[in-house]
Amino acid sequence: MKVVIPEIQQRVTKLRQQLQKANYAYYVLDNPIIEDSIYDQLYRELQNIESQHPLLITPDSPTQRVGEKLTSQFISIPHHIPLYSLENAFSLDELKKWQERWQSRYGVINNKNIDYVCELKIDGAALALTYKNGLLIKGLTRGDGKTGEDITQNVRTIRSIPLKLALDDSSTIVEIRGEAFLPLDEFERLNVERGEVKESPFANPRNAVAGTLRQLDPKVVNQRRLQFFAYTLHLPQNNPLNSQWESLEWLKNQGFLVNPHRQLCPSLEAVVNYFRHWETARHYLPYITDGVVVKLNNFRLQKQLGFTKKFPRWAIALKYPAEESITIVKDIIVNVGRTGAVTPVALMEPVHLGGTIVRRATLHNHDRLTELNVHVGDTVIIRKAGEIIPEVLRVLPELHPLHSEPYKMPSHCPECGSMLVRPLGEAVTRCIYISCPAVLRGSLVHWASRDALDIQGLGEKIIILLVNNGLVKSIADLYYLTPENMTTLDRIGQKYACNLVAAINNSKKQPWARVLYGLGIRYVGSVTAKLLANNFHSAEQLSRVSVASLSSVYGVGEKIAKSIYDWFNIPKNTTLIKRLEEVGIQLKTSYNSIEKTASIRQFFLNKIFVITGKLPTLTRSKAKDLIEKEGGKVTGSVSRNTDYLLIGENGGLKLKKARILKVNLLTEKELLNLLE
Ligand code: IVH
Repeated sequence: MKVVIPEIQQRVTKLRQQLQKANYAYYVLDNPIIEDSIYDQLYRELQNIESQHPLLITPDSPTQRVGEKLTSQFISIPHHIPLYSLENAFSLDELKKWQERWQSRYGVINNKNIDYVCELKIDGAALALTYKNGLLIKGLTRGDGKTGEDITQNVRTIRSIPLKLALDDSSTIVEIRGEAFLPLDEFERLNVERGEVKESPFANPRNAVAGTLRQLDPKVVNQRRLQFFAYTLHLPQNNPLNSQWESLEWLKNQGFLVNPHRQLCPSLEAVVNYFRHWETARHYLPYITDGVVVKLNNFRLQKQLGFTKKFPRWAIALKYPAEESITIVKDIIVNVGRTGAVTPVALMEPVHLGGTIVRRATLHNHDRLTELNVHVGDTVIIRKAGEIIPEVLRVLPELHPLHSEPYKMPSHCPECGSMLVRPLGEAVTRCIYISCPAVLRGSLVHWASRDALDIQGLGEKIIILLVNNGLVKSIADLYYLTPENMTTLDRIGQKYACNLVAAINNSKKQPWARVLYGLGIRYVGSVTAKLLANNFHSAEQLSRVSVASLSSVYGVGEKIAKSIYDWFNIPKNTTLIKRLEEVGIQLKTSYNSIEKTASIRQFFLNKIFVITGKLPTLTRSKAKDLIEKEGGKVTGSVSRNTDYLLIGENGGLKLKKARILKVNLLTEKELLNLLE
């Protein structure tokens, strides 16, 4: 065995101190103090000495972060102190109720001097770390709160977890808890890499963290660059700390990464302000936060309030509306839309999602349904697709109910009983019976909608009444309704009937472009309808043009052209046009509405706009109308295809994305100047 001379021992100590300092500056302070290459040289020197003098190796040496691969599964170990979960509040009202609850228990009359600590709720995996005489000896997962898995080997690879506490006066045993998480850029990098080797991507950073922590090979964990925010501390008996705020300070001084956005709040009002601020600001953070953890600051008060079976009474998680939730499918129905498209829809146990309570989610079409393999009774993950309609994202196959079968699409229309068809090469199944009541109802809802004929008061409920009672068999029938024949129906009063008839009559003034959109021709959205109306100034003209000349219009492709051509060749539709003309619907353009200078039209024509934030004077729909009138398109989210972002106050995430993608920005004033 080699003799270790004191100089070498001293060099090793110095090297470790230097490397630890550099590590802390890099991973915790995010403020590197030495070049990477210098760090590598020092690290290699230490590694060399240690390999020549193995007796000098200590577990807290920076070279000892990445251990050997485990040969078997992780061992479960009971937690010294159970890891409680947090009660959730989904609204400010629930937060207020929590305050009332703890106050009535504690007997607070005047709560002026009671502080709250607000911390961001990091979406990762909780870890419990044990330090003995200042050295990290154990790292456990949360597990079920009573027992966790011993993942010490993996925990040691996380650079923001010190292997050794910084202060000498640390007590014999200290337990520290916090959240391991994966920064978003690391998450993306990891998924790209997985894609390259044909491994399925992780659904979200939380799954990626959980999956990583349970890797048997610490080398794999080491490559994934997990991080850790410390948030609680359990010191033995003679704990000199009095509050959560002091604990966070203590943790920081011991070398842990403590989330810098914590805040001491003297009132619930301050908590609410913190929550509101981070609702948008959290999207700029490099990691995912799904809420705010509110804790009573004072330990004496915490102790007095204690715990329920599951939660501390002195803390609560105030959650931001989830973009994904889990629920159970109670039933599956099919919905027949105005084009006859049949969409399977899951009816679910109500669940919070994106700020609302959701009861239905789309299963899209037959193929998607098969791919999901959904059974009634299944546990499913749902999410908000785009802006409004929730969709079933995933089924948890392990939780299929016993003896259940995959749901199968019906062969016949649930509305009219006719056979459903799926045209070759299409994803959508349709009811093609021309007089299917569901199709008629959908067409009427569309005709009355805001961007079409905009008939106030003509909603789905009244449409169902009118159709079911045979008063309306076609769109044109709406214009023959009278207050007298409407009041023969249950639940329709004289005043309501008069107003509705007036609104229907008023819609005769709507311009040709809106009428064209209202006809509900497949693929003809409101923007395409405007483009078409600008080029073909009457229904009569449109009904005579060829597919070729239709598709020569900029922005109208072959698919749209064919659909329009086919529509005008169905006798039922030409009859409808004739009848609409008879009742006085605008089926022609009044010329002055399309006269604009060429250059301004050029600016707007077919450009894609996105609107963000609150505009100083215009409502969003007004701004949208103005842009579309000039031939522009307005979409909901910023992408590489966006030409302009119209910005208002608090532009938020869209503004951030637009800056990254270098999208042109436009203010309301600039927009109005252009239109003058
Ligand atoms: S305190 C008894 N603080 O949220 C106190 N938890 O929903 C329990 N979490 O299991 C935890 N950020 O994994 C606390 N700043 C934070 C947190 C936090 C994330 C997680 C933690 C916990 C879960 C409860």
